[in-house]
Amino acid sequence: MSEFSLNLSTKIFFGKGKVKELGEAIKPFGKKVMVVTGGGSIKKYGIFNEVANELNRSGFEWFEYSGVVPNPRLSHCISGAKIAIEEKVDFLLAVGGGSVLDATKAISFLGFTKGNVWEDYFVNNKDIEKALPIGVVLTLSATGSEMNGNAVITNEEKKQKIAARSENLKPKFAILDPTYTFSVPKEHTANGIADIFSHLFEQYFSPEEIDWWVPDRMAEGVMKTLIKWGPVACEEGNNYFARANIMWASTVGLNGLLGVGKSGDWATHKIEHELSAYYDIPHGAGLAVLHPTWMEYVLDENTKERFANYGRNVWGIEGKSEMEVAKKAIEKTRFFFKSLGLPSKLRELKIDDKYFSNMAEEVISIYKGEVGRLKKLTKEDIENILKLAE
Ligand code: NZQ
Ligand code: ZN
Repeated sequence: MSEFSLNLSTKIFFGKGKVKELGEAIKPFGKKVMVVTGGGSIKKYGIFNEVANELNRSGFEWFEYSGVVPNPRLSHCISGAKIAIEEKVDFLLAVGGGSVLDATKAISFLGFTKGNVWEDYFVNNKDIEKALPIGVVLTLSATGSEMNGNAVITNEEKKQKIAARSENLKPKFAILDPTYTFSVPKEHTANGIADIFSHLFEQYFSPEEIDWWVPDRMAEGVMKTLIKWGPVACEEGNNYFARANIMWASTVGLNGLLGVGKSGDWATHKIEHELSAYYDIPHGAGLAVLHPTWMEYVLDENTKERFANYGRNVWGIEGKSEMEVAKKAIEKTRFFFKSLGLPSKLRELKIDDKYFSNMAEEVISIYKGEVGRLKKLTKEDIENILKLAE
């Protein structure tokens, strides 16, 4: 077992009506707030109004910075960071899904940086020493961004999508009201479920000793939760328990708890980020295609035990051999995603083989050859996975 340290510093307010905590939660950080939002759905469904009322009731001076798009763009974050500095804001409040949260994190530190920020902070992971404090009102369950220090941003000129990471980017608090996700359409609900599942896979299928049980048995419980409540959330958008289970699964899925003592694999995420940088597809949809394909590709005599564990403990599969259980588990995974209406081939996302080679090269170059830990992937492997997924 690897050693680990864990800092779960984000304060969580979970449940219907928890927006009432907003004023008290922001107060320690100052008076002037910039509220970062996306393309308008939160206004359509009344969430923005509830947030605005709370900010007004608590006497904050505040304004909105809107227009964050899915797969948030670096240029928009840089503009937001300039405004935050010029307006001397004390606090940033993200109201939205993962894209809004990530953009807010980028805005929080970009105003204090100089030079080639993309190379320094995204490609080369330079330490982020200074950032404005941020808080979150989550409206879509998927990324775990509400409790982690990752800001995944797209550089539209370079066609790259990479995370900046720092403890200093962790939200100070997150308001998780499952009713705020009632309005998420089926398609984005399903994308979110695929993303959560994928975060669990990235941490679960890791090269460390298989006897380090706690994170894996916990992850299996979260996976079962997705299998039970995912289809309900997709079909009955207003089902509180379905939305609540998926929301908490999203948060624990990538807040560090299930990855302790494990290095994780993360090859599938690295490849998917390239796909969404090139084609601007939803992250979860790309993962729904790539993760089962990656499983199929890396399954061999050395990895079969982990996939068989997953099959037995999560899906209750029995079989004569580890290999048989493992293969059935991969099929079950693919079928589950399909049953939620998610794609299982890249062509369903209108992606052909035109840029496979470029994307594979880019992934190897961005991560300096470190792609995959359960099984390290070469450029050729990445191209093979993309071809298999085509
Ligand atoms: O733009 P608006 O109008 O806000 O609409 C959004 C968007 O179109 C809509 N939406 C959000 N809340 C809603 C709603 N529609 C109705 N009702 C609501 N309550 O949903 C659409 C998708 O939103 P987005 O924020 O893009 O989705 P998601 O939460 O899946 O975030 C995806 C982004 O997060 C990154 C992804 O790569 C992608 O850029 N990730 C961030 C991670 C992190 N920070 O740790 C980890 C992940 O692996 C991932 O890479
Ligand atoms: Zn993800």
